[in-house]
Amino acid sequence: MDATCYAKRREDLRQTLGSGLLFFPGNPLIPRNYPANVYAFRQNSQLLYLCGISRPGIALVLFPEEGRDVLYGPPEDLDDLVWHGPQVALAEFAEAAGISEFRDIAELGPLICDRKARGQKLRYLPPYHERVLTWMSRITGESQEALRQGSCPELARAAVEQRLIKSAAEIAEIEDALEITREMHLAAMRLARPGLRESEIAAAIQEIALRHDRSQAYLPIVTVRGEVLHNCEYGNLLQDGDLMLNDSGAESPLFYASDITRAFPVNGRFDSQQKDVYEVCLQAQLECIDRIRPGITYREVHLHACRVITEGLAQLGLMTEEARFNPAAAVADGAHALFFPHGLGHALGLDVHDMEDLGDIVGYGGEGLRSDQFGLNFLRFARPLEPGHVMTVEPGIYFIPALIDRWRAEGRHQRWIDYDVVESFQGLGGIRIEDDVLVTAEGSRVLGSPIAKSVAEVEDACAT
Ligand code: GLY
Ligand code: MN
Ligand code: MN
Repeated sequence: MDATCYAKRREDLRQTLGSGLLFFPGNPLIPRNYPANVYAFRQNSQLLYLCGISRPGIALVLFPEEGRDVLYGPPEDLDDLVWHGPQVALAEFAEAAGISEFRDIAELGPLICDRKARGQKLRYLPPYHERVLTWMSRITGESQEALRQGSCPELARAAVEQRLIKSAAEIAEIEDALEITREMHLAAMRLARPGLRESEIAAAIQEIALRHDRSQAYLPIVTVRGEVLHNCEYGNLLQDGDLMLNDSGAESPLFYASDITRAFPVNGRFDSQQKDVYEVCLQAQLECIDRIRPGITYREVHLHACRVITEGLAQLGLMTEEARFNPAAAVADGAHALFFPHGLGHALGLDVHDMEDLGDIVGYGGEGLRSDQFGLNFLRFARPLEPGHVMTVEPGIYFIPALIDRWRAEGRHQRWIDYDVVESFQGLGGIRIEDDVLVTAEGSRVLGSPIAKSVAEVEDACAT
């Protein structure tokens, strides 16, 4: 992304909003246990989108009526120089982003107060970071509650419309990240064997990211207890017969995410139960990728996955004959969610769940439109697909003991679920297969080089 690209993004946003002060605070450094011991820094994605500057404590203001942009940042500090070495000057950052004005961040509070007094509206996105909110409150004199309530829906809508459609350069970033992610996934398949700990596989994944001087886009899930959906602990021993679920992805040089999941047998060979369930999940994923094209809603694609899973599990006896012949009714009742309790996927971009900080305006076009049915309520994106959207396609099939026990005790969906057969699959854990897919004018394209996915490919990758 060059200066012209960033300048164009800012200009488009200025044009769309037309008035006010468009205020984009960057992220600060966050202490882990005392102020000088901080977490790895990650810039606010909206700020990255508009200027690409990964530096703590900056802010960007766009002035639509004046047709100019100003970058605010901390002045050069001698202590910083001593402790952190020579810093890239604000002027240099500004130039690389095509911003001609840069100022001391201490000037920002007085500017905002002055403009507000003259009747200009301060427009900003919903703040998700408590520290940023505290700082905004300090410099604007507004209460945190007033700031929370006062974010600008028009700005959020404009940001979503801009960022959902990815340019060729953004696709190239995601594909760049995917090459490293591919290496991470193939290494995990190759290395895993009974007797190792999850942490050893997680370490290999981190080593690959670090060797390429990259961050991971999110805390990786590397576990033999894949039925725990967001399991980010790595203490289990890998045992013969376990399935391992690896959901991990590198970031690109410009901080775009990749997000891939594979499930594979720790001993290198799927047993017949694992293979049967894996094939159902894979069929759902492949058919959904096939259905992706402009105009179809992601809700429809999600419901197709639910249907394939219902039919497949009915064939295996986990769901009833009635479910097999009337999968649409079983899905409408939400019975499949015992096995597939989450959504098919989400938009991907500078955030792994792209713009999730802006709420359901991203995936639903507004608030209050999500289903409250268990399973469907976790579908993050439901609206019609357009060329340039990048979506994850990630169906999963899980055996979650607490959920199975609860539903069985309540006698829930007995018409659709054969709980005795389900019991015989307990212990299988979780399977999810996730790829990152670009919506094209004609249909879709799976991004990145292929990563072992069929049963044969996965077993081969485990054996290499
Ligand atoms: N890696 C998080 C997700 O797949 O949504
Ligand atoms: Mn995902
Ligand atoms: Mn994932």
